[in-house]
Amino acid sequence: MIRFDGRVLFLTGASGGIGSAIAALFHQYGAHLFLADCDEAALAALQPRLGSADDVATHRLDVTDPRAVAGAVDACTRRFGGIDYLVPAAGIYDIKPIGEMTDDAWRRVLDVNLDGVFFTCRAAIPKMRDGGAIVTIASIAGHRAGVDIPHYGASKGAVLTFTRSLAVDLAPRLRANAVSPGLIETTMITGLMQARGPALLASTPMQRLGRPEEVADAIAFLCSDRASFITGETLHVNGGLYIAG
Ligand SMILES: NC(=O)c1ccc[n+]([C@@H]2O[C@H](COP(=O)([O-])OP(=O)(O)OC[C@H]3O[C@@H](n4cnc5c(N)ncnc54)[C@H](O)[C@@H]3O)[C@@H](O)[C@H]2O)c1
Repeated sequence: MIRFDGRVLFLTGASGGIGSAIAALFHQYGAHLFLADCDEAALAALQPRLGSADDVATHRLDVTDPRAVAGAVDACTRRFGGIDYLVPAAGIYDIKPIGEMTDDAWRRVLDVNLDGVFFTCRAAIPKMRDGGAIVTIASIAGHRAGVDIPHYGASKGAVLTFTRSLAVDLAPRLRANAVSPGLIETTMITGLMQARGPALLASTPMQRLGRPEEVADAIAFLCSDRASFITGETLHVNGGLYIAG
């Protein structure tokens, strides 16, 4: 059984669908939680759902602001003494054909999904305790071509490469792995499912959307000592869509 008693999780995108499932699971396993998100109201609603406020801190954070990210890491260190697990889950999704791609639309997705991950890792790594683990959240879109998401796909492909670089640079002190979810039931993919849901589900051998909790389980495994010799890898969580789609 996985236990994270006394360990500290630094999580961005914490009030999102996948983020809140990660928060709940790590809390159940005994971790202290530092939960960061730009959506302050959603963060405030999440904290009481986790139980004790003693071991859960929330922090409003825009991951595209490197100074704010450094401040959040300092706040976490002051509160809990260090960081054991880092999951930079904040992300945005945007459907836009390349012919309609504006500079701003391209930049915004790269800012949040790639620069935000870089800023978070750069600030947190020096505060991470030996034996800790980073798990980034990429996407099936970082491996396969998606429809009308060139900016999102590019950002997630870069996250995969960045994660492998971290794994080499940080070993043996820390491990770094990625999870690549397929279609997970959160509000992020509402528009996609309205546009192409039946076809996408028909291409998924498991014939359903994934649950945020199923992504959280993969992340907890990769953080745990059960994955103590796994670094620089990608764990797909997609119900078979990657191999069949
Ligand atoms: N849902 C899916 O099917 C799916 C598939 C593959 C990958 N992912 C990835 O999983 C991660 C979580 O996605 P989700 O499905 O939970 O989506 P979500 O929209 O429910 O959660 C994303 C969270 O990120 C936060 N966020 C956005 N911009 C931010 C910023 N600048 N600073 C701080 N926080 C910010 C949002 O407030 C939100 O709480 C994302 O990185 C996403 O790209 C999701």
